[in-house]
Amino acid sequence: MAVLDHISSQEAMALENKYGAQNYHPLPVVLSRGEGVHVWDVEGKQYYDFLSAYSSVNQGHCHPKIVDALIEQSKTLTLTSRAFYNDMLGKYEKYVTEYFGFDKVLPINTGAEAVETALKVCRKWAYEVKGIDTNKAKIIVCENNFHGRTTTIISFSNDPVARKNFGPYTQGFVKIEYDNLQALEEVLESSSDIAGFLVEPIQGEAGVYVPSEGYLAKAKALCKKYNVLFIADEVQTGIARTGRMLAVDHENVKPDILVLGKALSGGIYPVSAVLANNEIMNVIRPGNHGSTYGGNPVAAAVAIAALEVVKEEKLTENAEYLGEIFRTEMNKYIENSNMVSLVRGKGLLNAIVINDDEDSDTAWNICLKLRDNGLLAKPTHGNIIRFAPPLVMNKEQLLDCVSIITKTLKEFE
Ligand SMILES: Cc1ncc(COP(=O)(O)O)c(C=O)c1O
Repeated sequence: MAVLDHISSQEAMALENKYGAQNYHPLPVVLSRGEGVHVWDVEGKQYYDFLSAYSSVNQGHCHPKIVDALIEQSKTLTLTSRAFYNDMLGKYEKYVTEYFGFDKVLPINTGAEAVETALKVCRKWAYEVKGIDTNKAKIIVCENNFHGRTTTIISFSNDPVARKNFGPYTQGFVKIEYDNLQALEEVLESSSDIAGFLVEPIQGEAGVYVPSEGYLAKAKALCKKYNVLFIADEVQTGIARTGRMLAVDHENVKPDILVLGKALSGGIYPVSAVLANNEIMNVIRPGNHGSTYGGNPVAAAVAIAALEVVKEEKLTENAEYLGEIFRTEMNKYIENSNMVSLVRGKGLLNAIVINDDEDSDTAWNICLKLRDNGLLAKPTHGNIIRFAPPLVMNKEQLLDCVSIITKTLKEFE
């Protein structure tokens, strides 16, 4: 078999299972093409994508404008490293900082790297600006967080699968309950060594947990009161997903440090970013941090195009509009069914909770049936299924998807 020969789904899965590290448990479907809200498997069957590569493909699969930016820039200059200037990075830095309203950006590649970057910036700010004693700085994080997979990040995860046997762990994190302002204030009050509070505006991986209204604004105010940086990890919630450009915009909160990834490139290329104002970002000096690919010309061109598409195609407004319809329609189903206990979310980041034990395989089996019925989604934790289609969907397609989902759920009643 030549490497690029057409292969069947069975052959493709067998290759991954034999030659790939088993660090994922994919739904058995082998995709070979994507366009807009659809993907196709190698046998040609069409599906609605209801995961969007974990909210990366907000702009839809293979968006022509973003693909063109990738191709054009790839023909001209792809990588210089940051040993030299390039003619795209500055343009992108101006564009992205004005877009989100910050003085400076630190460009990097993946979500986890961007979170790591934010933690480093926060710690350095704590020592050099706030005046915390060396190596004493602590960062508050939330239970059930998901911020990526590096050793430091899993050090403050409470998911045993992500953590077990990867120690020793990085010190300097204090974990509190999510959506609990009292717990936040208690820690802030108890120590002058707190540098930052790292939070997901909606906990995506944990199962799309939306905090109480006012939580983010009050948490930000508490951080300000105690001179602690409010770090918003918007890797999954950002870039129009929740019906606002950023999920913190629902509460008019401006983070001190903003972490972006995923849809910053529309799923075309790994691009992530950390944004902050000068009094924070200026603690970073040459040699403190970086990555060979971070800020490369292709990433810059792709991210500009991806961000333009979000505004040109009014994806924020569409996510808000379709999200309301989705939850209304799902609630109609839930009223007359005991299969699903609730639907929750904002914009087009939603989840349903299946009425079964947390460790049952019902959610997985429903996702297999959804696949058979032409829609791809995956359980997050246990009995929760996340629904996050590309934001370029239209109302007719959304209603079609609702009918696939409810029809499938009825098969399990
Ligand atoms: C909130 C959040 N932060 C960080 C990450 C890590 O991003 P990446 O997988 O690109 O490292 C994710 C990934 O799902 C995420 O949801």
